Amino acid sequence: MIRKAVFPAAGFGTRFLPATKASPKEMLPLVDMPLIQHGVEEAKASGVRDMIIVTGRGKNAIEDHFDVSFELEALLEKKGDGKLLAQVRQVTDGADFFYVRQNLPLGLGHAVLRSMDLVGQEPFGVILSDDVIDAPVPVLKQMIAAYERYSAGAVLAIQKVPKDAVHRYGIIKGKKIGDGAYEVSDMVEKPRPEKAPSDLAIIGRYILPPSIFHALSSTKPGAGGEIQLTDAIRSLIGKERVIGFEFDGVRYDAGTKLGFQMANIAFALKDPEIGPGLQAFLRKERLA
Ligand code: UTP
Repeated sequence: MIRKAVFPAAGFGTRFLPATKASPKEMLPLVDMPLIQHGVEEAKASGVRDMIIVTGRGKNAIEDHFDVSFELEALLEKKGDGKLLAQVRQVTDGADFFYVRQNLPLGLGHAVLRSMDLVGQEPFGVILSDDVIDAPVPVLKQMIAAYERYSAGAVLAIQKVPKDAVHRYGIIKGKKIGDGAYEVSDMVEKPRPEKAPSDLAIIGRYILPPSIFHALSSTKPGAGGEIQLTDAIRSLIGKERVIGFEFDGVRYDAGTKLGFQMANIAFALKDPEIGPGLQAFLRKERLA
């Protein structure tokens, strides 16, 4: 059972400046729902109850978003707008939210390490909400099934990427052991194409054992001078069974401006309320 999920959200989001100067990147909306709420909804739909959000300076909007707004709910109730009221209640229903600060963004590994006391001694999920995945079955749920099927210690979401993109990801070396599953024997963060052990990149979903915290606390800064989660997971190989899992779904790198716009267009086109209008507009203006 995976009951807890960690959402690292303390980065500066520099690729979206100036939009992220005073507002968190994780609150950028995909149509009408902030990126981080997409991640939280995925976790809820995967059976997770406790959402642990790693925040930093300037991230108060995240805490406010996952808090009940009595005034807003009273107003919507008075107006008789049941649909919007249900959408607003959905934000806080079915989960408990916990926060921990990462005072300086020293890397993803460091952000996860900050959640140690809240996670305790149990396996947990990690969701990077800027990896948006449109999937028939929530990706974390797919991964939990693989975690159980292979009696894994850790499961990493992976996806094939073009050779000229491997330098942007953690890349695994692994042997295929089943449908979409790889036994990971090594991994390297942001390799040059000629040094990459495969084209299988780690995407922002993980199931990790509590032993990762000990590994993280002795992990030195790696690529980019940051404490890398990949380096700590690598040190678990041999002690824990690490599985790379090719999920079923379309993934958008919403941490980049291009990926974010692609995700917005794809989600908007699928939206029953605005999809037909957007499609008609794109055709009329010959934009697509
Ligand atoms: P990114 O590297 O994509 O986010 O980290 P960033 O640093 O905010 O963005 P850029 O590169 O400056 O544009 C992926 C996720 O990990 C979190 C980020 O908030 C993001 O959700 N993160 C990253 C942390 O919480 N702490 C860190 O030290 C680094």
